[in-house]
Amino acid sequence: MPQPTPPLIEVSDLRYAPQGRVIFDGLSVSLDARRIGIIGRNGSGKTTLARMLGGLIEPDQGCVRVAGIDVARDRRTVLKRIGILFQNPDHQIIFPTVDEEIGFGLRQLGHPKSAIPGMVNDVLARFDKTHWQGRIIAELSQGQRHLVCLMAVLAMGPDVLILDEPFAGLDIPTRMQLTRYLNLSDASIIHVTHDPADLGGYDTVFWLDGGAVRATGTPDQVLPVFVDAMTKLGAGDDISDLTG
Ligand SMILES: Nc1ncnc2c1ncn2[C@@H]1O[C@H](COP(=O)(O)OP(=O)(O)OP(=O)(O)O)[C@@H](O)[C@H]1O
Ligand SMILES: [Mg+2]
Repeated sequence: MPQPTPPLIEVSDLRYAPQGRVIFDGLSVSLDARRIGIIGRNGSGKTTLARMLGGLIEPDQGCVRVAGIDVARDRRTVLKRIGILFQNPDHQIIFPTVDEEIGFGLRQLGHPKSAIPGMVNDVLARFDKTHWQGRIIAELSQGQRHLVCLMAVLAMGPDVLILDEPFAGLDIPTRMQLTRYLNLSDASIIHVTHDPADLGGYDTVFWLDGGAVRATGTPDQVLPVFVDAMTKLGAGDDISDLTG
């Protein structure tokens, strides 16, 4: 009998309170779709959740599974199958040059040293960036550094891509190119954003609010209600909760 496929996101009773600040207090959600968008306003916990889904932060309590992988326990499988793009490229970049940064993940996957330059070149070519060979990353703009991180993640060929605000800082042509590329990719995608425009074509949208589930459903069900609530909030003068 074929095994049922596990849901893309399965979070149960997640609790996390770094330095006593409660971010998740019993979050449970199970979502099964190939492309899931996580939306929420600034400070709602999106990045913290994305990092937990990528196995980079361990919860105080609860279990996080992505495509059936227990991300806190099974580090090897996470490295092989899940790619995460950070919101801030400067938190992701380790190496001085574009080639080294993209090559590092490939080395970690066990590809032979001799195969790396060709693989790096392939991914640069896919984004029309072969002229970035050998470029010093610190001399690239913020948006360009973001793209280097994305190419480094995509080069590893993950089954699941976790993208934390992947379009932040990218210009319209690059954003369109990236969207086309993501549409072609076979990977399951978890896309974290504060911008409803990014999620129109997604299968499922999860609205995270104050570390809790506010709504889940199709983009048509969730996004108009989200926009309405955000517009009402923005119409008021009180932004004190932004300091949260
Ligand atoms: N290590 C930490 N220690 C204390 N508080 C934290 C820590 N990490 C995150 N927070 C707090 O948790 C809340 C959620 O932060 P997070 O970065 O996950 O939000 P976000 O939804 O990604 O916001 P944005 O849209 O601005 O990127 C914020 O109030 C933040 O200050
Ligand atoms: Mg964030």
